[in-house]
Parts: sequence; C-alpha cells; structure tokens
Amino acid sequence: MQQAKAKASGASQLVVKDLQEEFVKDYVFPCLRAGAIYERKYLLGTSMTRPVIAKAMVDVAKEVGADAVAHGCTGKGNDQVRFELTFFALNPKLNIVAPWREWDITGREDAIEYAKKHNVPVPLTKKSIYSRDRNLWHLSHEGDILEDTANEPQKDMYMISVDPEDAPDQPEYLEIGIESGLPVSLNGKTLSPATLLTELNEIGGRHGIGCIDMVENRLVGMKSRGVYETPGGTILFAAARELEFLTLDRETIQVKDSLALKYAELVYAGRWFDPLRESMDAFMQKITETTTGSVTLKLYKGSVTVTGRKSPFSLYRQDISSFEDSDVYDQADAAGFIRLYGLPMRVRAMLEQGI
Ligand code: ARG
Ligand code: SIN
Repeated sequence: MQQAKAKASGASQLVVKDLQEEFVKDYVFPCLRAGAIYERKYLLGTSMTRPVIAKAMVDVAKEVGADAVAHGCTGKGNDQVRFELTFFALNPKLNIVAPWREWDITGREDAIEYAKKHNVPVPLTKKSIYSRDRNLWHLSHEGDILEDTANEPQKDMYMISVDPEDAPDQPEYLEIGIESGLPVSLNGKTLSPATLLTELNEIGGRHGIGCIDMVENRLVGMKSRGVYETPGGTILFAAARELEFLTLDRETIQVKDSLALKYAELVYAGRWFDPLRESMDAFMQKITETTTGSVTLKLYKGSVTVTGRKSPFSLYRQDISSFEDSDVYDQADAAGFIRLYGLPMRVRAMLEQGI
C-alpha cells in the first residue's frame, strides 16, 4: 500500500522504519525521567517525535547519498523548527525543502488540492475537521471548533481515551515498577518501553485518563489551542514523580523541578540535539540513580490517584518519622532549631516594635 502510494507520487524508493522502541526508550523516557512538562500541562507528545523522525531522515539521506531532505510542515507551526534544527545539528550540509513555505501552498485546502492533482491519496477531505498528530505517547487535536477557545471539546473527538463520564464505575489498580527513574514493569511483569506504553494507553484510555485542553505559546510567537490525549504518559508521570518523594530530598527536588522547566522548553523548541539538553540529561540520570521501586495507582473516571509507593532506597524512615519516641530525633533539639531558624523574624519584629 505505502509502496504503491509512494510510486504513484513519483518516488523512486520508499524506506519505512519502525522507530517505536527507539522513540520510547531514547526520547520519551528521558523526558519522563526529567519531569518535562511545557506550560504546566503539555507532556510534549508531538515535540519528542520530531528529532527521532528527523534523525532517521538524516541517516537515510546518508545511506542513499541524498543532498536534501524535505518535510510537510506548515510555515506557521513548531514542527518546521523542530525538524530543521535536528537537520542542522546532525548534518548542516543538507539542503531543506519545505513546500508549504516555498511553493504556493498557503493552507490545508491548497495542500489537499495539490495532492489530488498529483495523484497522492490523502485520508481527509476538505471538510474534514481536526488536524491530528498521533504517536505512541499521545494524540493531538487542533483546528475546527477548537480554534474558538470558548468551545468545549466534543466527546466524540477522542480516539484513545473515552470521556471520563463514560468510563467504568469500578476503579482499576495498577502497579508500575521503576528502575533509576525509568519505568520497567506493569503489575510485576517486565515489559519493553514501547510495550509498556502501549498497554498503559489501553488501560488508561479505558478510564478516560490524560485528556488535556490547553492554550499554548508556539515558538513562532502565536498562541494556539489544542486538546491532547496522553493516557499512558499521564499514568507514568504520576508514578515517576511520586517515587521521587521517597528517594530525593527537598533541595534536590527543587533543583530538579526548576531544571525540568528549561528541559521542557528545549524539547518543545526542537533543541533535542543541543549540548544544553544533553548535559541536563546527564544531571537527570545521576539524580535519579536511586529512584527505584514501585508505585500503586488507582484509575477512576479520568483521575489517577497514587495509593502506595515503596523503594529500597527510600529516605522515609517510619522509625524516625513516627510520632513515637526515636533515638535519632530528640524532640528537645527542636526548640533550639526553631529559635535559630526564626532569628531573622525575631530581629525584624524587634526593630518594628522598638525593642
Ligand atoms: N501544539 C503541539 C506541539 O507543537 C502539538 C502539535 C501537533 N500538531 C501537529 N500538526 N504537529 O507540539
Ligand atoms: C504544523 O504547522 O506543522 C503543525 C502545527 C505545529 O507544528 O505546532
């Protein structure tokens, strides 16, 4: 089918690569470990795929001796930036052809018209509604009624998840196993990254997990509105973040979270192969070395609730934290600690009150 479509469109050769495991292991999981979320909500589902696709294109260009690559992104979006920054980073000598920007294609209708004229079958009609992008991590919906930010997303647009209102009345429990910040198992069964994510999408989708509706700032300056379905990813984020509360201390969590913001911004901006992101990744890897253990979660009508967590490297010690007597913590020490910790407050109050 794909071969026939490519030939009919004038291609001399078609290369199809299965990058699913590479995508989840080398792109999705590092973002998860970093806790990368763009503008408070977006789990970067489209952003993460552009470098893996563009890298594969650069590799094929090398294999076949091509001196140019092309992409079908519009001139108004983020994707053009992400593809082209990856081409620049991996082979700055490649020429880039971007028909939307260079030819007289100025909108989706023109693109469909052009495809028709050249016998390229496209799976949508002029009337077709949303612009969608789907991969193992997420599915995005943009355009049509969503362009008015006041419109509620329609129930029937969802493709991976059910609407939470239609999810089962019975909750479902899951156990996610994590090793050094990376998910490795589901309910005690070790699974490959792509298989684990596929299963979680199925389960999470059934319970209406991970549908977000957001207005975001695109790189090219404009705001855009999108609805994203990320069921498996939302479950994995909840699990990975929760385990860190056992394995990381206060200051480490603060530093990690502050770097996660920058990490997400770089991924959104297509700067995957940027030494800054790579160096931050080295930090994320080191800091999560002991984030190993398991998290139990309850899925119910669109919500993910953590119900339990354990780790062999847990910094939580019941013998210390319990209100019962302990050897390590002497309650008498607290009085001196509070007096010194509060010294600046006392000094200010003394000044204000002329003491
Ligand atoms: N706005 C999101 C992003 O920039 C999703 C875009 C998905 N749509 C698309 N046509 N690529 O990552
Ligand atoms: C595109 O223009 O290719 C889609 C929108 C985006 O990149 O955000």
